[in-house]
Amino acid sequence: MKAHQDVAFVQLDANLAALAATWASSAADVALFAGPSLSWPLGVEQMLTVVRQQRRNVQVLLVDGLPVAMGSVQPVPGAVRIGWVLVDPLRRGQGWGRLIFDHLLALASSDPHAELVTLGVYEQNLVARSLYLGLGFTDTDTRRVLSVDDTDWVSVEMEYRPG
Ligand SMILES: CC(C)(COP(=O)(O)OP(=O)(O)OC[C@H]1O[C@@H](n2cnc3c(N)ncnc32)[C@H](O)[C@@H]1OP(=O)(O)O)[C@@H](O)C(=O)NCCC(=O)NCCS
Repeated sequence: MKAHQDVAFVQLDANLAALAATWASSAADVALFAGPSLSWPLGVEQMLTVVRQQRRNVQVLLVDGLPVAMGSVQPVPGAVRIGWVLVDPLRRGQGWGRLIFDHLLALASSDPHAELVTLGVYEQNLVARSLYLGLGFTDTDTRRVLSVDDTDWVSVEMEYRPG
């Protein structure tokens, strides 16, 4: 982030969902950020329906008024879960992933019921893995397998204890 850039976080709405949907361009892209919770092709209706059904608070990072990244927090039994972490492919590697994730983690940690913050990340996703490990998330023993394009993708469950 540069000093003169204006950053803000806003809730996902239909217009922002339409834009964020363009950040994934294949079934593999969708699986990478959303696991089985969304399917290809992404659409506004699908995204907003899942948001409601899964009680996701989806935050969008605006930089100088333009959407650059998003991510969600949602209540799950015994924890708050972070998901849907996605940066505009043209803006990756510039610190925006860390910024949206810091915001999501602060939101999740401020929930009075949040003794635990959880997430799932695919083993091969080294960029995301390194981000989460660097912020104090640790691997659990739980793994989940999702078939993506006829290949088994193994997701690692990670957790973080606020405070
Ligand atoms: C994963 C993702 C959210 C990271 O966002 P980003 O804006 O590209 O990453 P940032 O520039 O904020 O970097 C954050 C950290 O990621 C790691 N990282 C970033 N680029 C990297 C690279 N090319 N190689 C290795 N690690 C990298 C570093 O640990 C970095 O930490 P640092 O700030 O200490 O250097 C983004 O790449 C993305 O949207 N990927 C596709 C969807 C996805 O994988 N979502 C996560 C699902 S669990």
